[in-house]
Amino acid sequence: MILFGPHSALLAQEVAGLLGLRAMCFDTKVFPDGESYVKLPSTERLEEVLLINTMFPDQDKRFVETLLMCDALTRNGTKRITLVVPYLAYARQDKVFLPGEPVSPKPLGQALRCVGVEEMFVVEAHSEEAIGALGLKSHNVRVSDSLRRAVEALDEKPQVVVAPDSKASGRARALAESLGLEFMCFKKQRDRVTGHVETTPEIEVDVKDKTVVFVDDIISTGGSVASAASTLKKRGAGQVFAVAIHALMVGNAEQLLSSSGVRRVIGSNTVQNRFTAYSVAHELAEELRKHGFGK
Ligand code: R5P
Repeated sequence: MILFGPHSALLAQEVAGLLGLRAMCFDTKVFPDGESYVKLPSTERLEEVLLINTMFPDQDKRFVETLLMCDALTRNGTKRITLVVPYLAYARQDKVFLPGEPVSPKPLGQALRCVGVEEMFVVEAHSEEAIGALGLKSHNVRVSDSLRRAVEALDEKPQVVVAPDSKASGRARALAESLGLEFMCFKKQRDRVTGHVETTPEIEVDVKDKTVVFVDDIISTGGSVASAASTLKKRGAGQVFAVAIHALMVGNAEQLLSSSGVRRVIGSNTVQNRFTAYSVAHELAEELRKHGFGK
């Protein structure tokens, strides 16, 4: 049986269909004071549950909701909860960058363990360090085929794949190679206090009149891609697209990206919003099946 939160409905229902499992959505609401409430949709006793709940939008709410869902399941007799997190929040603080900071995934993992989670599947966690810091048996599910299909399905065929920073370069380079496209990469400096981003080309190609696609795991404020896109536009790039796995698109990200020349931003269904344009269900279901889930 799969149980899921409403913010993961699209992905969870598709995964359930692929695995041949029943799926039910938790009832959720927010009290007037802002506290989260969850309730099992049925009190049928379920020995084993795959719980799918993403952690955005609103990472704190989704996380507390996940804890409450686990507690409700355990109280109802569930013996084994396997948690599937389509987007793992707090993963970027995977180390102490400045003295006095936490390693955020660690307490998240500890709290999840306390409510009975022993095993987790995370879709494209920001880093292996983040997965390790959770301290649980965790699987980082790669979705490079889904990402490639999303790039192939763009309105215009790109000629250049661009990584907005060196962390994105492995994924972007592999994609460029698999599609026979050129590859370009930027180097990024982020001010750890203000969050301000500056990018400079590291591996260069001529982008004049070419269609380019940025590829990254996360687009949050849009600052990284916007900075690099402005440089490409100044160099005469044609259409510019941005494809992320997790398109959080917070604040004025859409406006910022559009004014930097990005024509369209798309993300997967790990985060359900109006940028959601492709699914990672097949690769997620395949990984779950490999670990004994589903029919
Ligand atoms: C960071 O290393 C990530 O891979 C993304 O590049 C980053 O989270 C994007 O953030 P923003 O859109 O706020 O620049």
